[in-house]
Amino acid sequence: MKLRYLYLLTGLLCAGTGFAQQKKAVTAKPTKMDIFINNLMSKMTIDEKIGQLNLLTGGEATTGSVVSTNVEDKIKKGQVGGMFSMTTPSKIRKAQEIAVNNTRLKIPIIFGQDVIHGYKTTFPIPLGLSCTWDMSLIERSARIAAAEATADGLNWTFSPMVDISRDPRWGRISEGSGEDTFLGSEIAKAMVKGYQGDDLSKYNTMMACVKHFALYGAAESGRDYNTTDMSLDRMYNDYLPPYKAAVDAGAGSVMVSFNDINGVPATANKWLMTDLLRKQWGFNGFVVTDYTGINELVEHGLGDLKQVSALSLNAGADMDMVGEGFLTTLKKSVQEGKVKQQQIDKACRLILEAKYKLGLFEDPYRYCNEERAKTEILKPEHLQAARAAAAESFVLLKNQGQVLPLKQSGTIALVGPLANTGANMPGTWSVNSDLANTISLLEGMQKNAGANVKILHSLGSNLVSDATYQEHATMFGREIPRDNRLEKEIIDDALSVAKKADVIVAALGESSEMSGEASSRTSLDIPDSQKRLLEALLKTGKPVVLVLFTGRPLTLTWENENVPAILNVWFGGTEAANAISDVLFGKVNPSGRLTTTFPQNVGQVPIYYSHKNTGRPLEEGKWFSKFRSNYLDVSNEPLYPFGYGLSYTTFGYSNLKLSKSNFKAGQQIQATVTVTNTGTVAGKEVVQLYIRDLVGSSTRPVKQLKGFQKISLNPGESKEVSFQITSEMLKFYNADLKFVAEPGDFKVFIGANSRDNMSGDFKLTL
Ligand code: BGC
Repeated sequence: MKLRYLYLLTGLLCAGTGFAQQKKAVTAKPTKMDIFINNLMSKMTIDEKIGQLNLLTGGEATTGSVVSTNVEDKIKKGQVGGMFSMTTPSKIRKAQEIAVNNTRLKIPIIFGQDVIHGYKTTFPIPLGLSCTWDMSLIERSARIAAAEATADGLNWTFSPMVDISRDPRWGRISEGSGEDTFLGSEIAKAMVKGYQGDDLSKYNTMMACVKHFALYGAAESGRDYNTTDMSLDRMYNDYLPPYKAAVDAGAGSVMVSFNDINGVPATANKWLMTDLLRKQWGFNGFVVTDYTGINELVEHGLGDLKQVSALSLNAGADMDMVGEGFLTTLKKSVQEGKVKQQQIDKACRLILEAKYKLGLFEDPYRYCNEERAKTEILKPEHLQAARAAAAESFVLLKNQGQVLPLKQSGTIALVGPLANTGANMPGTWSVNSDLANTISLLEGMQKNAGANVKILHSLGSNLVSDATYQEHATMFGREIPRDNRLEKEIIDDALSVAKKADVIVAALGESSEMSGEASSRTSLDIPDSQKRLLEALLKTGKPVVLVLFTGRPLTLTWENENVPAILNVWFGGTEAANAISDVLFGKVNPSGRLTTTFPQNVGQVPIYYSHKNTGRPLEEGKWFSKFRSNYLDVSNEPLYPFGYGLSYTTFGYSNLKLSKSNFKAGQQIQATVTVTNTGTVAGKEVVQLYIRDLVGSSTRPVKQLKGFQKISLNPGESKEVSFQITSEMLKFYNADLKFVAEPGDFKVFIGANSRDNMSGDFKLTL
């Protein structure tokens, strides 16, 4: 009760903050859409209305443990408002025909799907894509995804996933844009724009669904679906802004998350879905639950299915994904007075409005064009964009002695369990990818190396020594065949191949399904058997390049000390193998920058650059001091900081200038720095701007990203890069949850990452 009271209070306090929006003025004149829907709803029975709130699976990709049954029958009875997990114009047309021809009011179905990082043309996993720091590239990836998905019959995607996460144990960190609020918000906007374009009713745009609302990425101990317990300061300043950014960008729908938030699961959380989302943010689309999220409220301990269905609807959920709690219990709850008819009307109206906006009432078959399916999907220019995006997402973590790029002559030994598996290239949550036709790194290198390079291959090790673990980590067709020989024999085989080579490329790390949903890990090391292989390879004395596949930050302390070159390639999508070859052979100079901190060990987690200072921070230059905030066994520093990444060239920063040292609200300061390419090849640099608020009414982070620019420089070339600092950028949610910029001293940092930068000082005055 106390918590509910707090939520209510928060809601009231927030009126007048940045999150509060003017409620739209009630227009006297109803729109064309209002008239159409009023008319339709006036004819609908309560059963027909409840039917619209029901979302079922179409039986293709498995994205949850329950699959809907008797779907055709339910469509005929008007019990299906939406479907997902079904593709192709012919199948979707067939289901749509059943709805339109067999139901009394001929209401079309909305067809959704998890189009997360591309459709058939798969882009890098979102965590990788975020490392491009390139908003137009990210928007274009969503645009291409929408073009292909709509050509295949779909009109609604369960993306963008904007959950901030600072815990690499959580497998779903791979599906988001990393740890940072500002960058995450920029990416959220770009994705919504890419999917929805400027007109949702166009045949090639689709409705976005921002998820998972909210705070799913802060699951305790990194265990999936686990509880979230968070202060309002952290919520408002760090975790909520990306959802808000997606809503402000016009996302048509929101998916509510599985987790408990401060004692009330999101799916039953009225403060979240109604007070915050609708009243404060002014969201006017519909809210869908996550997969069987309502049924899971029973396990959360909130009552039986009838009770929790009423609870969820009353809290603000509009559509029930898969669980059929709404379908089977809401009418009874209305009769018992537990649910008001208006609540059902409101949910039904929002879903019908979505269908109207998508143009489905005008033409239910707008997205069922066989011709488009043949020409749009896997178009050469889409594949080209995916290849370029993948190459931009890779992060060069180390390159001692310029081992990379590889020479296009001589012999390369390509070893490791990730070397010869096309199915593991697209990455987690690529349910629409054609795994059988995705080429492996081995095939990609053979194709791209040129005639003067000989590539030898050996498996080198199993994914992990424990066969059961490997089975869990290679589901959904993403197999890595197991070699049942003794580990020593497998390694010896690789060593005999390595002996014949000039350089060794070790394709190691995680399989695609070691990250993603329900794929949490307590160890963030490269799996045991692979690590032993790497040790053996290093002992040969030959140069070793670690091509690291991963869906999360891993602990690479040992690798960083011992392996000369490490290229983190995440999971790069359909074109991963070509893109990795492009970077390995120097056709593309790597420019990805980390969007999550890489810890030295798991004990440092959660670790993120924008932490608070504490009352006992460690003195500069020290790594341990008694009675200071630190560890006995390891320094506070991460292994690789947020924003970090190397290039085949080097960049120098000089001459940080501020246009003035004081400014008032409404004015601005210009911060300028000179960036020079000090190496011998052309390259791209992500110039990053951070700000620290030195004194505040609440404690403020030691640094916060406030701007970035990705620039290209030829060897020897310099550019002046400028950022405008406004008082708007200095705002934060204070203890009263007011969005304010407080006068006082600030520090500005500009540099190549969150650690290595130049700094200056300025003041905001009244
Ligand atoms: C996931 C969502 C996804 C949904 C539908 C759930 O298990 O949490 O992200 O959109 O399934 O596939």
